[in-house]
Amino acid sequence: MDSLSVDHLTGIKNLTEHDIQLIFKTADSFKEVINRSIKKVPSLRDITIANLFFENSTRTRLSFELAEKRLSADVVNFSAASSSVKKGETLIDTVNNILSMKVDMVVMRHPNPGAAKFLSERVDARVINAGDGTHEHPTQALLDSYSIREKLGSVKGKKVVIVGDILHSRVALSNIYCLQKLGAEVMVCGPTTLIPKYIHELGVKVEHDLIKALEWCDVANMLRIQLERQDIKYFPSLREYSMQYGLTKKILDQLSKKIVVMHPGPINRGVEITSDVADSDQAIILDQVENGVAVRMAVIYLLASKIERQ
Ligand code: CP
Repeated sequence: MDSLSVDHLTGIKNLTEHDIQLIFKTADSFKEVINRSIKKVPSLRDITIANLFFENSTRTRLSFELAEKRLSADVVNFSAASSSVKKGETLIDTVNNILSMKVDMVVMRHPNPGAAKFLSERVDARVINAGDGTHEHPTQALLDSYSIREKLGSVKGKKVVIVGDILHSRVALSNIYCLQKLGAEVMVCGPTTLIPKYIHELGVKVEHDLIKALEWCDVANMLRIQLERQDIKYFPSLREYSMQYGLTKKILDQLSKKIVVMHPGPINRGVEITSDVADSDQAIILDQVENGVAVRMAVIYLLASKIERQ
């Protein structure tokens, strides 16, 4: 059986193009499964997965849980807000206690960059990063590129602009790695204060004018302003940000071509995109969510195939 080059999914940076294509090919089969009347396969009946969420989540948490259940894995959920982390327990103690209950795989979202890699080096279980601070969100990038491939036939040669709060975004970094490995051209667009100074080292174009960026691209991935990660003011007000970088239907309709609009969610309607854009036929936001389940099933299935079973 064809297999991934990695034992854990801690980021896109250390995946090969072959790994990504293998995940997509496997996700194609699972997408067919989740659209059947019986949406379940018995593949992981002997596997137990713990979902550890030390940060808030709606889409990623539900999508992983659904993917695990569609594969017939046993699932346990942990949320930091209602756990003994509040009593001072460390990450490693929390995880080791969970692993002693014979857990094979851990899906973890954590506020600290590098938390998933740290864990993968210390526990005897497969680890999947569900978002580590401002670092990476690998399954989001995989489902984003998978959705572009589905909509436009391939990712290779496509021009993708990522708009908004690049500085605080794990989605942006993982998308840049994933799109480039698949042969896309990548641009970032936003106010200077929200574009990291090291961005040129990543080989992406930078544009501060939204209309120019949209005229250049085939796909625009509109990011949320992450106020929860901003300790200082990066722009005068949300209203001003929205006037310069918010995508409206009027702007979309004035472009010389029809572009695809994406958003990882959660959307702040009226800030980065208006409701008529989010709900338009150019937006593939709900396709991204649907594809997230198939892509996560593929990642879990491929990593589980590396677990030695008795
Ligand atoms: N896209 C994303 O990660 O959404 P959640 O924070 O709701 O999981």
